Amino acid sequence: MRRPKRISAAALAIIFLLLASRYLFSLLATPPDQSQTSKLNNNNKNENKRKADSRIVRHSPDKLLDYSSVDLIPWKHKDDFASFPRITYFNGHRGCNENMHGVMTRLKLNFNVLNPRKITRYGMRHVDGQTLINFGYIATLCNASDVIIIADTLPDARGILLSLVDPDESKRCKSNIVVELTNRFNWIVDAQKDYNELMLQLVENPPENLYWTANNPFEEVYFKMRVGKAPPFKLLRSLGVWDVDPFDNSAGITSVASKGKFGRVKIPDQINSLTIIRDETRNNQHPKVELLFRLYGIYDKVVRLPKHYGGPSILYRYKGLIEFPYQVSVMKFYENIAHGVPQVLPTPRLLHAIVKDAKLHHYFSGWIDKLEETAIYVANPEKHAAMQMKGDFLKKEVWEDAPRLRGIKRLDKPYRAAWAELCDFYRKEFEPFVYYFDSFDELKQMMAVPFEAFDYKNVRKKGPQFYEQIRNESMATWKDLFNVMGYGKLLDKK
Ligand SMILES: *[C@@H]1O[C@H](CO)[C@@H](O)[C@H](O)[C@H]1NC(C)=O
Ligand SMILES: *[C@@H]1O[C@H](CO)[C@@H](O)[C@H](O)[C@H]1NC(C)=O
Repeated sequence: MRRPKRISAAALAIIFLLLASRYLFSLLATPPDQSQTSKLNNNNKNENKRKADSRIVRHSPDKLLDYSSVDLIPWKHKDDFASFPRITYFNGHRGCNENMHGVMTRLKLNFNVLNPRKITRYGMRHVDGQTLINFGYIATLCNASDVIIIADTLPDARGILLSLVDPDESKRCKSNIVVELTNRFNWIVDAQKDYNELMLQLVENPPENLYWTANNPFEEVYFKMRVGKAPPFKLLRSLGVWDVDPFDNSAGITSVASKGKFGRVKIPDQINSLTIIRDETRNNQHPKVELLFRLYGIYDKVVRLPKHYGGPSILYRYKGLIEFPYQVSVMKFYENIAHGVPQVLPTPRLLHAIVKDAKLHHYFSGWIDKLEETAIYVANPEKHAAMQMKGDFLKKEVWEDAPRLRGIKRLDKPYRAAWAELCDFYRKEFEPFVYYFDSFDELKQMMAVPFEAFDYKNVRKKGPQFYEQIRNESMATWKDLFNVMGYGKLLDKK
């Protein structure tokens, strides 16, 4: 279709005006001396060239994108919060940002976010990290930060970590560095050997300014299995916060269940149905777990919510949320307990059968492999080493000819998940706040239970109470960390 020329010219003019006014506005809004952006020197030509190159060579092994400036973005800045220490949250995950906002709100500290997704693709290589050091990016970042908290994807911080072992001491990052693992430490790293050697160096000669935390217990044992040694991790669970509720005061988050209402959001209806969040991925190569709902004739009997469903205050209206874990640990799990949402999960046995026998729900397949391997390692490191030598852990899953219908009959195969305690969805400490089903018949029975009778564990009330304790423990650990880093007096003043 062709549009009249005059309209497109007008549209161009409007876009130009918008861009120009945004630019002018940003100049007015940010006086140069207060700008959060630290420009690096002598880079413009190189940078343009780099960008041009990356357009042409689309599959270049180079992971770096734009590192011409260190862009620190204030996150929900408050004038009455302290801006010292200067905290940089090195993170590209929205849920982690929300969690850090919860932590910093309680400490009354402002923080800036630096999004690694703008700097690098996943799986940063050694040379890329070294480039960031040589180019002065790491020096500028560290000079602008008293504290750097690295969240979510550790390999994104390879440059920072590499600087810590640089023979040239002047190149080492002097900021206090807190690693906050919410994911495997080696997420999408190709040359694992190189990377693991760096990790081992950091463990054996621990830099004084480096602190390790993880939000779930799997990360530490997995690290130890891959690297051989692990640093002293502090378990630092997320606060289970959600942005919907306003932060009225330092007491923190409005607790949905204990107050019986949703902060300023209208009191919801009770909906006598279980709900599930739709799998909206387009990839149709792998059959999805939804197929089972069709086969058991319950597809239309659960409410299917879109990916952006509105958070726990919406889920709370329903009898419960059915979830098929797709990761070892997800922030939503804690958030839902904290807000009193009853969660309904397949038992580890059924989950294993769905993933490995029926070959549905491929998302969890690799994680079952890693969980099983780690469980062997925890129980018997020698046996693990021997199996590794034999290549037992290298088997590749074949998905192409998944025996879909034949597999369904095998959903009752016995299986003992030795890894249950490594995975928060199935850990004993969370069991009182979660519902499990071991077959689809059992799920059907649960669906028939009316709203009032459903929550026999009283998750709606006890979940938030339990989580308040976890939240308190996490805040105590954060305060302890700031103390050790030398900012204790500052926090006490408040
Ligand atoms: C370090 O930061 C200070 C301001 O905090 C600035 O004056 C100085 O130029 C920076 N140095 C480098 C090497 O970036
Ligand atoms: C959590 O900390 C708050 C504030 O210090 C306190 O009032 C509350 O009793 C604590 N709750 C639990 C369950 O420890």
